[in-house]
Amino acid sequence: MTKIRSWLITGGAGFIGSNFVHYWCRQYPNDKVVVLDALTYAGNRNSLVTLEGQANYSFVHGDITDQSLVESLLRDQQLGGIVNFAAESHVDRSITGPDAFVSTNIVGTHRLLEAARKVWLTEGMASDHRFHQVSTDEVYGSLGNDDPAFTEEHSYQPSSPYAASKASADHLVRSYQHTFGLQTTISNCSNNYGPYQFPEKLIGLTICNLVRGKALPIYGTGKNIRDWLFVEDHCRGIDRVLRAGQSGGTYNIGGGTELTNIELVQRLCDLADEVIGASPELQARYSESPASKGVPCSSLIEYVSDRPGHDWRYAVDISYIERELGYRPQTNIEQGLADTLQWYLANESWWLAVMDGSYQQWIDSQYATSDSSLGNGQPS
Ligand SMILES: NC(=O)c1ccc[n+]([C@@H]2O[C@H](COP(=O)([O-])OP(=O)(O)OC[C@H]3O[C@@H](n4cnc5c(N)ncnc54)[C@H](O)[C@@H]3O)[C@@H](O)[C@H]2O)c1
Repeated sequence: MTKIRSWLITGGAGFIGSNFVHYWCRQYPNDKVVVLDALTYAGNRNSLVTLEGQANYSFVHGDITDQSLVESLLRDQQLGGIVNFAAESHVDRSITGPDAFVSTNIVGTHRLLEAARKVWLTEGMASDHRFHQVSTDEVYGSLGNDDPAFTEEHSYQPSSPYAASKASADHLVRSYQHTFGLQTTISNCSNNYGPYQFPEKLIGLTICNLVRGKALPIYGTGKNIRDWLFVEDHCRGIDRVLRAGQSGGTYNIGGGTELTNIELVQRLCDLADEVIGASPELQARYSESPASKGVPCSSLIEYVSDRPGHDWRYAVDISYIERELGYRPQTNIEQGLADTLQWYLANESWWLAVMDGSYQQWIDSQYATSDSSLGNGQPS
């Protein structure tokens, strides 16, 4: 069990990072948490606003590629742990602009590792330390319908520039453990959903579009399969790894809920029909939603051309983390989707604010052949 009580959380203003910071500050209120985030289009300080002013929490606006900044944070704030969420995370963006993925996901992770090595090992600041890399199941590549789920032994076969950049970072992290003795762990997780997700990804965008009566584009046949995990369960899994994981260890974290994209969107549509259909207040607020007019939200579904190199199926075998660390996801997909829909309905100002001009510009350039006001919202 780790004794570390002070953490640098990189990318803590993003989707999973902000959920993790809230989770950690709730679970361990005496730990010190310093968030380092470059506030790219995907970072949002509003996601952490309720923590502002708390004595053990602070926010630093900066880049993980800035090694001297990271070194001084580790040294000056006496931080013994790094949990690295900072990344470019959207596969579609990695196809149109891979450079940023190489810079943040590979070079940025390397700068963090170097800073940690220098301060914790060379300067000897922290004999008990931990570098945790938050990674993805996409490093393993794609599965056929009948293939067994990815275990930690599966070879790396990344398909997209995003997945390749995450795979490279994982290799660097392992090499720093093996070569320099840095205490590291890696978690490879399946698709997350929940509060504070930037609405360019499938679930957030489906909700934000269906309430506004905008089309719900689906790549290809809609039959690609993903394993879905409620974000708080991911946070719990990382907690288990930080508390009890072995240095040098790799742990798969997944939800055990495989759904095709079209099944997932259909479920969200059915849920929205029910929730909005039962609420005159929501019907008045979202008068453009089909659910407010007694029409199924699924009438908004539109099929669009497939993503180049689109992985067919991801599925994660979590038996190792279950056996070794006693981890199990606690939120089933029905509850998780219902909670997520409620969160977006209750936090309209959050998602309207992030769908600003630059968001719309990017969406327009991506999906010029479909209704450009939509966004594709496909999962990574
Ligand atoms: N979203 C998923 O389903 C999923 C699944 C498995 C693993 N992951 C991994 O989890 C991590 C977090 O994913 P997410 O969905 O929350 O991503 P996100 O895109 O929502 O957030 C990324 C955060 O990193 C920050 N950031 C980007 N570049 C930075 C830089 N150079 N320096 C400092 N901060 C920077 C952004 O401002 C943002 O706050 C990523 O490493 C991703 O690969 C995500």
